[in-house]
Amino acid sequence: MNQPLDAFWMPFTANRQFKQAPRLITRAQGMYYWDDQGRQILDGQAGLWCVNAGHGRPRIVQAIRDQAGELDFAPTFQMGHPKAFELAARLAAIAPAGMGKVFFSNSGSEAVETALKIALAYHRVRGDGARTRLIGRERGYHGVNFGGTSVGGIVGNRKLFGTLLGGVDHLRHTHDPARNAFSFGMPAHGAELADDLERLVALHDASTIAAVIVEPLAGSTGVLVPPVGYLQRLREICDRHGILLIFDEVITGFGRTGAPFGAQTFGVTPDLMTLAKGITNGCVPMGAVLAKNAIHDAFMQGDERMIEFAHGYTYSAHPLACAAALATLDTYAEEGLLTRGAELQEEFGRALHTLRGEPNVIDVRNLGLVGAVELAPVPGGPPQRAWRAFLDCWDNGLLVRTTGDIIALSPPLIIEREQIGFIVETLRAAIRKAA
Ligand SMILES: Cc1ncc(COP(=O)(O)O)c(C=O)c1O
Repeated sequence: MNQPLDAFWMPFTANRQFKQAPRLITRAQGMYYWDDQGRQILDGQAGLWCVNAGHGRPRIVQAIRDQAGELDFAPTFQMGHPKAFELAARLAAIAPAGMGKVFFSNSGSEAVETALKIALAYHRVRGDGARTRLIGRERGYHGVNFGGTSVGGIVGNRKLFGTLLGGVDHLRHTHDPARNAFSFGMPAHGAELADDLERLVALHDASTIAAVIVEPLAGSTGVLVPPVGYLQRLREICDRHGILLIFDEVITGFGRTGAPFGAQTFGVTPDLMTLAKGITNGCVPMGAVLAKNAIHDAFMQGDERMIEFAHGYTYSAHPLACAAALATLDTYAEEGLLTRGAELQEEFGRALHTLRGEPNVIDVRNLGLVGAVELAPVPGGPPQRAWRAFLDCWDNGLLVRTTGDIIALSPPLIIEREQIGFIVETLRAAIRKAA
């Protein structure tokens, strides 16, 4: 490594520790990365939950190249370019019925801000502008901007940043290892935790609440699969009180749970849905909000010469991102990747659950092609076991992700059987050594 590492202030990284022993990725193809030593590393986390079709897919690469030569940039404020409209229609076609409107952003964090603003503005344009409260959930992750940090529920991401947005409250999280440890797929217990929304309604009154935002399956906090019936119950309570339900599908979108979106896997349709990551297979930054038609239509009133929703990004529906996303959707469709997680769930889950009984393993969770192994914390210090396992996996050619003492897995959806075996056995050896 001959270039200095000092200048890059790295995101969500222990900078000093990293720079003493850097891990540099220089190339990727299919299921694999290569580091600067030329070592091959199996990508067990699809980049950062985003490279769902695997790396270096020729069709996507070509589409980006072609687009850069044909139309590098075009504004979408009072203008348009064809691929933006085509992509919106293609996304609506795979979304749950009735979610036919798409607003583009450049990241998941921006998609979240956009969804929260749509929710607030929706109530206001309908003359119900006292609905200003936003409800998130403990352990939720909704990106790093102020709205998303405020509705988010991970203390380490919140505590540095003051009082955040006012008028935000949180539901209890759904993690209940005492009743649900080692559940295969959706845990049996905990539907009643959705009733926590009734508690917040009783406290604040429904007439002040605009929206509830949850990840249908919480990813970043360490893979919390929703209990059977929980999301249905949340939907019912929102409906009863005129509260919008937002699903943050930045991770669960694009096949991760075995259907195009978590909404379809879990059989619950939200009012707004945030997307990013897998939308372009991680190749070009892009996010989006899918909205129910009725929400969009509520804005389409008044003087037609006026802008209906004063919001947007310079790079909303950037041509390179649209081209990448269209080629990504083609790749997903051709290879059946948006439902491959359902086909592999049994095998992936069974393999992962063989880690039960290994030292310090206190839970294994899985759904579709996402999973987690939780290790008992070492008392009285920062999380160490999962980190040691992460380093050992890296040394042995496997990239996994850790959050505290949880090791999360979300491999590209093109994964093959032998690669599932490699992941689990590499992890097993690492967990034993980390004991
Ligand atoms: C559920 C969820 N929402 C939002 C985000 C933020 O997305 P981004 O990092 O693209 O801003 C993430 C990122 O992991 C996420 O998992």
